[in-house]
Amino acid sequence: MRIVSGIQTTGNLHLGNYLGAIKQWVAMQNDVAATGGDCLFFLADLHSLTVAIPPAERARTTIEMAATLLAAGIDPDKAILFNQARVPAHAELCWILQGTARMGWLGRMTQWKDKAGKNREGASVGLFTYPVLQAADVLVYNATHVPVGEDQKQHLELARDIATKFNTDFDTELFTLPEPFVSKAAPRIMSLRDGAAKMSKSDPSDMTRINLTDDDDAIAQKFRKARTDPAPLPDTMDALADRPEARNLVTIFAALADRTPQSVVTEYAGQGFGTFKPALADLAIARLGPIRDRLTRLLDNPDAVTAHLVRGAERADALAAPMLQAAQHATGLQV
Ligand code: TYM
Repeated sequence: MRIVSGIQTTGNLHLGNYLGAIKQWVAMQNDVAATGGDCLFFLADLHSLTVAIPPAERARTTIEMAATLLAAGIDPDKAILFNQARVPAHAELCWILQGTARMGWLGRMTQWKDKAGKNREGASVGLFTYPVLQAADVLVYNATHVPVGEDQKQHLELARDIATKFNTDFDTELFTLPEPFVSKAAPRIMSLRDGAAKMSKSDPSDMTRINLTDDDDAIAQKFRKARTDPAPLPDTMDALADRPEARNLVTIFAALADRTPQSVVTEYAGQGFGTFKPALADLAIARLGPIRDRLTRLLDNPDAVTAHLVRGAERADALAAPMLQAAQHATGLQV
């Protein structure tokens, strides 16, 4: 089993990243350490070039996000933690796969359509080919499983299409088709202000998300101000089908508490958000507070965080190099 996943280094990690991805990474890292296999988790700093960020901030964000992953439980002795730019095989394989990926496939990606908006002529080429680099990220390790939130499933399907076409075009079985592994508990955490929008690093309003760096007061205030409706909580999840904001808060509660959403509505049935929101805030503070405190301590020594990334990159490079070489052979770049 080879597990690979990444996070783009554009801003603060939030509760959606934590519940949708990182919490699973920590669980998988522990399982894989017990059963054999590899886990590789990386900071997608090359992908962050698709967003205009001052260089000093990009470097700082990479370190801060790496520290947040360590604080959230990623153990560099069990998992390989690194930043993408330190392992050149990602970019090299990406270029090889650009010959395989089709314009039409990339043009159908919803993230491309959302991010480029109407200004396609002015969008960067990197934003368009972003999913090809993402495909290279997983194929360069022959990943078997890729733990992601639901929003990344389409990119993973594209990675499978690219792998299939490459294998066919070059008459090889080089690439394994990676399986997306989407959290059942929290596939898509929504904005605290709009139940139709996902919680996102790029939303201009900080009130839409709980950042993993938020202090206790900010967490409590954001949940207090979260949009809801006036009705009390019902006793079944089905009854929340057309109450997306309420459903989102119950989902967050359940995922943080490792409980089923149904057990949460059973407990709070008939109660209003005046009772539910403070309980949710207390739970979030209890879960996220220790992560934030560990993060603060880790950031006292950023060089130690960098050292973990350097060591992780050496280990990742050793796994990626033979795959890259095999892709060069398959394409006739190397004989
Ligand atoms: P990114 O940085 O947007 O998100 C990192 C991970 O968090 C998940 N996620 C969510 N899950 C549930 N609810 C949400 N509101 C939410 N928001 C984000 C994402 O699905 C993701 O798993 N392109 C990727 C980074 C990447 C990558 C890769 C991932 C680059 N290369 C290779 C997997 C494999 C991205 O921008 O994720």
